Amino acid sequence: MISLLSSRQRRAIRLAWRFMRPYRWQAAGALVALIVTAGITLSMGQGVRMLVDQGFMTRSPELLRRSIEVFLLLVMALAAGTFTRFYLVSWIGERCVADIRQIVFNHLLELHPGFYEDNRSSEIQSRLTTDTTLLQSVMGSSLSLFLRNALMVLGGVVLLFITNPKLTSIVVVALPLILAPILLFGRRVRGLSRQSQDRVAEVGSYVAEALGQIKTVQAYNHQAEDRRRFSLTVEQAFDTARQRILQRAWLITLVIVLVLGAVGVMLWVGGMDVIAGKISNGDLAAFVFYSLIVGSAFGTLSEVIGELQRAAGAAERIGELLQARSEIQAPVTGVLRLPERVSGRLDLQDVQFAYPSRPDVPAIRGLNLSVKPGETLALVGPSGAGKSTLFDLLLRFYDPQHGRILIDGHALVDLDPSDLRRHFALVAQTPALFYGTVEDNLRYGRASATHEQLREAARIAHADEFIMALPNGYQTHLGEAGLGLSGGQRQRMAIARALLVDAPILLLDEATSALDAMSEHLIQQALPTLMQGRTTLVIAHRLATVQNADRIAVIEQGRVAAIGTHQELIAGNELYARLAALQFPA
Ligand SMILES: Nc1ncnc2c1ncn2[C@@H]1O[C@H](COP(=O)(O)OP(=O)(O)OP(=O)(O)O)[C@@H](O)[C@H]1O
Ligand SMILES: [Mg+2]
Repeated sequence: MISLLSSRQRRAIRLAWRFMRPYRWQAAGALVALIVTAGITLSMGQGVRMLVDQGFMTRSPELLRRSIEVFLLLVMALAAGTFTRFYLVSWIGERCVADIRQIVFNHLLELHPGFYEDNRSSEIQSRLTTDTTLLQSVMGSSLSLFLRNALMVLGGVVLLFITNPKLTSIVVVALPLILAPILLFGRRVRGLSRQSQDRVAEVGSYVAEALGQIKTVQAYNHQAEDRRRFSLTVEQAFDTARQRILQRAWLITLVIVLVLGAVGVMLWVGGMDVIAGKISNGDLAAFVFYSLIVGSAFGTLSEVIGELQRAAGAAERIGELLQARSEIQAPVTGVLRLPERVSGRLDLQDVQFAYPSRPDVPAIRGLNLSVKPGETLALVGPSGAGKSTLFDLLLRFYDPQHGRILIDGHALVDLDPSDLRRHFALVAQTPALFYGTVEDNLRYGRASATHEQLREAARIAHADEFIMALPNGYQTHLGEAGLGLSGGQRQRMAIARALLVDAPILLLDEATSALDAMSEHLIQQALPTLMQGRTTLVIAHRLATVQNADRIAVIEQGRVAAIGTHQELIAGNELYARLAALQFPA
């Protein structure tokens, strides 16, 4: 049967083996139980022959009783073996899938952000669910079904030969006839399986996206359009599934016709031999028993092969995910370790960077910038100038195509990304909060913080007040992505979270843009003390926010157009002067 497997299926089996290896003793136990139960089932044929020839034919109650005793013993052994096999095999399936889920998730967490621009994360997520479920069904049952039935076919054919070589030759002639359609249809099923899985993943990601943005969907009365598009996706999934089912239905039907047809021919030939007195009744009964076992095992095999093929597709995709390498990694040799606390000096030298999805349009074009330790540098400039991109590069979510970025004089590419990132605290442009309590969200970057430190950070970010007003204070549960807070409250949470990390470099991307002027002013007042001994980069559109920065850099089209203090820039930079005139009318 092994030759029936394509290279893809062999890869899938290798993957399955990789996950099964830690449980090889359980697997060995399952295998023993499997062989024992298959052996018992096969030996039942001999029981049938004994029963017919010795029990019924000799009309001896004594022999009949002994036959039944043996039979009952076999049944007990079969029951015990089946219990062991079922429990162990299902256990292995569940255990391996639990491992796969963890390994894949752990792997996905480390991949570079650019990976999720080429691959929709919602699709990956839905794949992870459907594909692992499929693998679970295969490792937890189909694989064992496959082995058991393959054993039954092999053992059955051997016993058939022993019982009656002449009749067996019919089976042997029928075999290729049965294998041919399995191969033919199997190949089609395989192709359709992968398509089918892809479609299911599309359905899943569509749901995730629409439900995640439900307010926008309803505000634009977009439901009708969504219904239409979703139904299109679902119908496509159904259509692919229908084709696959049709192929499998044909496969099963053909196998039944061929197998039972062969059994009919055998019965006819064998019956003639019994009538002619060449073989005993028991022989024929045993023979029919074996051929039925072989036949039904064959039928199951052909179905299970379809299942294995579906799983091969799933395993392949999981394998692909596991093979994706993070492009942002520590160098293989000569990794530099940063000191416990860096001084916070940052240098960008002639940096050029284009996002992988838009390789021809650089977002940063030849940017030079030096930030002194402890300095507060503001970044202003038109939307789309590349300010947020700069933060992405500093955190090494991407590597620039040209130029170098240094922290305390060490090139970022020579560092371990996690060693680098622990020196940064980021407040992103869209504050990202997580499902959980307010406290969980604040502790995100520093789980060990005391409650006092937590409240202190919240007070500086002007979050303590509104948090205490929430129904359960710091223990209040937030919905997905911080649902249940206002935009400004979310920003203050994000600021508090970043402050709690106590990193030497603070990156604020429009951190106070959603706040009222009063709250922003209060935070501004608190920040200078906080920024002491910290390098701070502040992106802001409101110049009032950045007036007091040590220096202000005007970013335009991915370059530093001008740099200086507020007063210097008003005098020396046209764009800044225009912005200032708009925002501070005389
Ligand atoms: N993930 C991405 N893939 C491709 N292009 C991107 C990506 N993110 C941003 N860009 C592009 O890079 C350029 C710089 O974007 P960036 O987010 O850095 O602007 P910004 O200065 O922060 O603007 P804003 O003030 O509006 O936040 C823009 O032209 C933008 O379209
Ligand atoms: Mg931005």
